[in-house]
Amino acid sequence: MAIPPYTDIIKNLPAMVPFVGPETIERNQGKAFLARIGANESVFGISPLARTAMADAACESWMYCDPEGYDLRLALAKANGVEIENVMLGAGIDDILGVIVRTFMNPGDTVVASYGSYPTFAYHVHGFGGVLKTVPYRNDANDLQALADAASEHGAKILFLANPDNPTGSYYPREDIEDLIARLPDGCLFIFDEAYLDFVPEGSVVPMVCDDPRIVRVRTFSKAHGMAGARVGYAITHPEIVQTFNRIRLHFGVNRMAQEGALASLGDKKFIEDVIRKVNEGRLEYESLGRELGIPTLPSRTNFVSFDLSTKERAVGVMTSLIEQGVFVRMPGVPPLDRLVRITIGTERDRALFAEALRGALSSGPD
Ligand SMILES: Cc1ncc(COP(=O)(O)O)c(C=O)c1O
Repeated sequence: MAIPPYTDIIKNLPAMVPFVGPETIERNQGKAFLARIGANESVFGISPLARTAMADAACESWMYCDPEGYDLRLALAKANGVEIENVMLGAGIDDILGVIVRTFMNPGDTVVASYGSYPTFAYHVHGFGGVLKTVPYRNDANDLQALADAASEHGAKILFLANPDNPTGSYYPREDIEDLIARLPDGCLFIFDEAYLDFVPEGSVVPMVCDDPRIVRVRTFSKAHGMAGARVGYAITHPEIVQTFNRIRLHFGVNRMAQEGALASLGDKKFIEDVIRKVNEGRLEYESLGRELGIPTLPSRTNFVSFDLSTKERAVGVMTSLIEQGVFVRMPGVPPLDRLVRITIGTERDRALFAEALRGALSSGPD
């Protein structure tokens, strides 16, 4: 019997897997990784307060979660100096990006992002039938001027920017982002992805302006809070947009344990400060390893560092060798970024394993 016809959008999508998980590689290799420093998770774990809250909530999992996520949204609103009406929850930024794209982009509409930027935006754009125009990175950073120009030229419905950026780790302070916002063409929504916000200097962050309905800021508990597996993210934007999101968002998408854990983690400032300190320490160590081995590292304002292996061939060789030696890492897939290997800040033990494996990779591979 034949499969009933797929939609036109689905028929035209290539078969693809946006993220090959370390679990898949472990199954294929028949062995577990010794260090998991490829997905920008936080190896420093979750707050003890979050652990207790989540364990308690686990016992209450027979109940649906609060579909309004009220307590967590209220705490997030307070922490960010906004109102609860400005905040929407989602199962990570990845989920929220889909909600935003569906809300603001018709099939056939054009949107803009950097070529090789965080892939889930493109994934949703293609899944909802949009047309993605990309702008190349410049000097291993988003080219803000070119992004604004492209948005105008193509009459883009959405402009996506991650700041700090993944995979380069680059970061623009407040003035540059405000400049970009001032140059947004009419009718263009700005998705401002601040997944790595916790790692940037406080004074450089764009102030909250929730009365500007052209901007949706998206943030996550997956990085400094160490809760990638729990799937909690949030958007901050104009209240009317939050209400509109309510028409399509998955109302029980952020489960009870995730909501309780995030709420507890948000209250554990000491834990987060400690994570940030450890990340800064690890980043310095990676940079000095790069100097020692003659491999430039890109300046990073995130929980990862990209090592510049100068050619794609050398980067692929090093990544493959690291993976074979039990160190899970990833690299960007498109030029000119495909000469980089991106390494998440690991624990002291992870970093030692990585350093040793990198030395091994460099001594065995072609220069
Ligand atoms: C720029 C950026 N945005 C979003 C995400 C995903 O966040 P979440 O886990 O909340 O879906 C990542 C994860 O690596 C990221 O690098």
